[in-house]
Parts: sequence; structure tokens; C-alpha cells
Amino acid sequence: MRVEQASLELTVGPVAHGGWCVARHEGRVVFVRHALPGERVVAAVTEETTRFLRADAVEILEPSPDRVTPPCPYAGPGRCGGCDWQHATLDAQRALKADVVAEQLRRLAGIDRKIVVEEVPGAPGGLGWRTRVQFAARPGGELGFRKHRSHDIQPVDACLIAHPEVEAAGAERHEWPGAAGVEVIASSGGDHAVVVRPRSHRPVAVPDLDVPASVLLDQGKGRTVPRRGSGVLRERVGDREFRVSGSGFWQVHPGAAETLLDAVLAYAAPEPGEWALDLYCGVGLFAAGLAEAVGPEGAVFGLESDAAAVRDARANLRDLPQARVERGRVEEALDRFQIERADLVVVDPPRTGLGRDVVDRVASLEAPRVVYVSCDPATLARDLAWLAERGYRLDDLRAFDAFPMTHHVECVALLVRE
Ligand SMILES: C[S@@+](CC[C@H](N)C(=O)[O-])C[C@H]1O[C@@H](n2cnc3c(N)ncnc32)[C@H](O)[C@@H]1O
Repeated sequence: MRVEQASLELTVGPVAHGGWCVARHEGRVVFVRHALPGERVVAAVTEETTRFLRADAVEILEPSPDRVTPPCPYAGPGRCGGCDWQHATLDAQRALKADVVAEQLRRLAGIDRKIVVEEVPGAPGGLGWRTRVQFAARPGGELGFRKHRSHDIQPVDACLIAHPEVEAAGAERHEWPGAAGVEVIASSGGDHAVVVRPRSHRPVAVPDLDVPASVLLDQGKGRTVPRRGSGVLRERVGDREFRVSGSGFWQVHPGAAETLLDAVLAYAAPEPGEWALDLYCGVGLFAAGLAEAVGPEGAVFGLESDAAAVRDARANLRDLPQARVERGRVEEALDRFQIERADLVVVDPPRTGLGRDVVDRVASLEAPRVVYVSCDPATLARDLAWLAERGYRLDDLRAFDAFPMTHHVECVALLVRE
């Protein structure tokens, strides 16, 4: 029987990866949003496949003690798809993420481990943290966010998880005719930038923002060109300043870069004179810390595929001649640069993880320590299983709430060679 568009009364079970909880209806799995484990809810079915249903909890019959009223008026069924857990206390959100990481490790890597998700300093209450916000634009130029699993756009006049400096730009209170999307960036060095993605090569009318900001045009395939201002942002971590061009990668939570750098260095334990690799190095955040620690007798080799990030990394590491950054995809560049060994390896891949070939190539370096930074516990767990086959044991793992109110979680894992 098709139950799409039906309402189901469900008892909600455990959390699943992606901001869902799992329930059952007549033997079929139902992935439910806007619910919490243990609740009794009425859920509206939003999608039906042969194997499972998706549904939104639209009425809460028996609430969880962890339930709160979402602080954002745009959070909830059929509205903004940006946040997943606005209806849970922050402690409950972190416990849910810990359960997800533990479950992925158990299911995909056969690792049983208690996980604690730690707060990242800089966003008390879990609001006002996002220093890079991607808005979608409606055909008339009004900004908003995509609804969950939909192309529809929920217009907004403010975003509560956006950093106050992003909100200060006021992008969503202006119209952007001709734009398909607008990213607003506020850096810790005090710079603002907007990256505008045009709708099918039509000219975009860029409004005057409420703060001075560089304007960049997104030309697709990761290429941006400055249209006003330099388009270069300054980010500060401790005493060090990093330049980041346009929409190049930088952690979005204001406390995440420093927190992750500290966690990576504590696990990597670099010693003077060692030879370290920073794979997927971005603009050189970890390479800088590693290079300071290994000193002039040591060496750090960074690999990064994005040309602008490589230029930024080289500028950021100019005072550390023991650090070298090259452009290339990790999949081929380790061979191209004839990298055969390392004392320690740091990897920080995108959400897709390392994949089997890179796991094998990294393992072939026979480094005693590998530190794996991951924004997706599923691909992390998959890769840990492959690393285990190649003799690398998970020694320790920390998880960080670098994305409060959403289902995302950042992990740092230490692997040691048996
Ligand atoms: C999660 S970011 C990490 C950046 C850096 N470690 C940091 O913390 O700022 C991943 C980086 O990997 C780069 N990247 C993506 N795929 C890659 C590949 N196949 N080979 C090398 N770099 C890649 C991206 O451009 C991005 O800068």
C-alpha cells in the first residue's frame, strides 16, 4: 500500500546519520525528522521508496524531556532545511551526534567506543557561529534557504546560526536580481566578502551591503573572480594570520580552526626534525602548526587540489621554509612527488573521505602515526576499517560540535601502526 502523503502515528526509535530518527511502520523503516528518540509523534510521510519511508513529525503526542521550542521561527517541518536539531537541547544534540559516531564506528569498522562530542568555544547557546553562509536566491532576487531535500526556497530575513558579523552585512534584507545564490563570509580578521553565483550568465545587480565587503563572482567549477575589492580574507588562529581567497575552504565555526589545530597537534605529537605530510591541506592551517613543531631540521609537505588555496598556503607559510605545498589530487600526487615515507601523516579530506586507493597509498608510507580529521563519520568509519586491514589501529578519537543545531560533527582520530 502506498502511504505517501499519509499521516502515521509512530513511536520514535534511535537517531540515524543525517538528522533523522528511526521508527517502524508495518515492518518498514521510517526515517523521521523533527522528532527525538522515545517520542510518540504524528508524522507526515514526505517520501516513499520500496525499502523505507521518510516523514516529518508534525505533531508531538509524547515529547522527549530533551525537547525545546526551536529558537528559529524558520525551523520546522516544510520550512528551512539548514538545521536539523533546533528542537533539542544542546546537550541532547551532542549526545545524538555521539550516538551517530559510535554507531557508524560499530557498524562500518567493528569498533566499539564510547564517544563524547565536545563543545567548540565561541558560540554559547549554539547560535551565532556560522561565519560562512550560503543563501539561495529566488528568481526575483529574494534570499533564503533550501527546504529539506527540495529545490524550494524558504525566504528568511535573518539566520540565527549565522555569526553576527554575517548578519551585519544584511544580505538577506536586500534583493539580488540575476543571482542564483549568494555566500556571505565574515572572517575573524574583520573582513567581509560576498560570493555571487549568477543565474545562467545573466548580469547580477549587487546591492550595497550594510558593511564594506569584497564582491566575487562564482564562475563555476570552484573558480571565483573578484569584482569589487581584493576578495582575500584574513583569518586569525593564535598569533598567526592566514589569508583565504574567496570561497576557499576555512572552518565555518569561529572556534573550530584553533580547536582542531590543537587536537591534531596533540595527536600528531610532531618532534623537531620529523618529516610530516599534510594531505588536503587547504590554506595551510595544520601545515603551519606542524612546521613550527618540526622546526628547520624537519620538513612538512602539503598537498591540495585547489589552485587558489595552494597560492594562499604558500603565502601563509612563507616564514616557514621547512614547509612546502604542492598542487595536486592526493590520489595521484603522492606518486608524482615520489613520497615514499613519513614520520606522521595528517589527512583532512572532504566529506567523501579518503577512499580505498588513498588509504592504501597512505598506509604504504608506513608512518607510525596518522591523524585523520573528518567531517563525515560514515566515510571516516569506512576508511578506518580499511586502515585496520593495513595495520593501523584506532588509538583515540575526539568529536567536536563544530556545527551546532545541525547534524554535522567533526572528528579527529589518531591511528597508530601496529
Ligand atoms: C576539509 S578541507 C581541509 C582543509 C584544511 N586542512 C583546513 O583545515 O583548513 C579539504 C581540502 O581538500 C581539498 N581537496 C578536495 N579533494 C582533494 C583531493 N582529491 N586532493 C587534494 N586536495 C583535495 C579541498 O580543496 C579542501 O581545501
